[in-house]
Amino acid sequence: MSLIEKIDKTRVPKHVAIIMDGNGRWAKSRGKLRLSGHQEGAKSVKTAIEVCGELGIKYLTVYAFSTENWNRPKNEVSGLMNLLVSSVDREINEINELGIRIQVIGEMKKLPDNVRKKLQDAIETTKNNKKLTFIVALSYSGRWDILNAAKSIARDAKENLIDPSEISYELFESYLATAGTPDPELLIRTSGEERISNFLLYQTAYSEFYFTDVLWPDFSKEAFYEAILDYQNRERRFGKTSEQLTK
Ligand code: FPP
Repeated sequence: MSLIEKIDKTRVPKHVAIIMDGNGRWAKSRGKLRLSGHQEGAKSVKTAIEVCGELGIKYLTVYAFSTENWNRPKNEVSGLMNLLVSSVDREINEINELGIRIQVIGEMKKLPDNVRKKLQDAIETTKNNKKLTFIVALSYSGRWDILNAAKSIARDAKENLIDPSEISYELFESYLATAGTPDPELLIRTSGEERISNFLLYQTAYSEFYFTDVLWPDFSKEAFYEAILDYQNRERRFGKTSEQLTK
């Protein structure tokens, strides 16, 4: 039986989030520049999108650039920005034809004008697509997201648009960058690191974490299937006991 046949299609996660790590090490081990690792990593993004289509996963969020990544060498930052623009240019027609909606979470105002414009166009072009929502976290950090939501809530409370006593989880979530998106049931991190690195801090409260030593450029369809199978073998209890779940 092949890996994909082992997957129970009725129990795939709705939302998978991925920390794509290891591009630099992949390049270094081949004596290549870091940027070629990112280029190869962009191919794995495409592969991951294909798997979501095959399995019926409705939301895929990838951590493409963290708030902290602005501190990387200038040429790596500009190389990553150019890679984003060229990836959108190359793939946008196919993405649209496949019914994929693009969204971006993060401090878009920090992005160079051409990158922001390119992404805004892609978001607009694909906004009515329903098959898969592909969310790119760019200049994103979980603490920024929570702080930003708190600031917006405080502002709206000050303007009497909301009453502080009515601030519920639901209301708070509507102020997060991920408003309208269900929390990820599965968070994958590649390359052997086992940290959340300021990714979706609020949204991963009950996510299953899956760590693999595979470097992101090597993250194949089979590697993704393995992660889904591992997820399907876990019991998600949300604080309850096993006995309560079987009742
Ligand atoms: C982490 O590897 C990877 C990144 C910071 C960039 C991820 C970006 C892409 C895969 C580019 C394409 C994205 C899209 C959405 C088209 P690392 O550089 O931290 O690797 P290292 O830990 O081995 O140095």
